[in-house]
Amino acid sequence: MNSNIKIFPSPELLAESFAEYFASEVRHKDKYNIALSGGSTPEIIFKTLADNYTDKIDWTKVHFFWGDERCVPPESSDSNYRMTKETLLDRISLPSSNIHRIRGEAESIEEAIRYSNEILNNVPLVNNLPGFDFVMLGLGEDGHTASIFPDRLDLFHTEKICEAVQNPVTHQKRITLTGNVLNNSSAASFFVTGKSKSFIVEKVCKNPSANKNFPASNVNLINGNLFWYLDTQSASKL
Ligand code: 6PG
Repeated sequence: MNSNIKIFPSPELLAESFAEYFASEVRHKDKYNIALSGGSTPEIIFKTLADNYTDKIDWTKVHFFWGDERCVPPESSDSNYRMTKETLLDRISLPSSNIHRIRGEAESIEEAIRYSNEILNNVPLVNNLPGFDFVMLGLGEDGHTASIFPDRLDLFHTEKICEAVQNPVTHQKRITLTGNVLNNSSAASFFVTGKSKSFIVEKVCKNPSANKNFPASNVNLINGNLFWYLDTQSASKL
């Protein structure tokens, strides 16, 4: 099996392995720009970093961005920023200027423009697009990643950096990085756990070229490594 596909007996062991990789990567850089995923899967990773790496990583090197955000206030239980703040940011020491929050409370179209400019002002260009050091990606059962949903495959063919979108089922407004920015990262990984994701993992991880209708299948880094951090449940159909 492809060595970039890493399968762990539990989410805890997955998180420990990624935390070690992350610490090693940051160690070799003066500044590390990471775009975080949202939803529930990354919580265990953020908690593991906060529990075991507060002193093992020079957090002043790390600049946190988000791959997507729900258009809700930062206090909302739906906010990806709030989840990250509670599980990680409140437990590590870094300048507030290192935290590049998507302002979910703002008007979505204006915020997509503002956030694009914040990224351009802080993330170096590679091939004329912002080049993150790492992008964390979740995977929805419908094959979405970040907030690129199946009705918006066009977001893999736009020169825009961010876009204001809507969840096609809940109609919740969101801000998302676009596909070309995801694919421009030096490294990225899907983080997927749980039995409910085994179907979509089989489609996207095993045979992406035959499943391009699922947005996540279109993640294909131009000059970087794409990893899969899976647990045995989500990987059960591989
Ligand atoms: C979000 C995400 C989204 C998420 C997937 C998986 O804001 O919801 O960024 O892409 O990663 O929906 O979500 P779970 O980890 O909760 O299954």
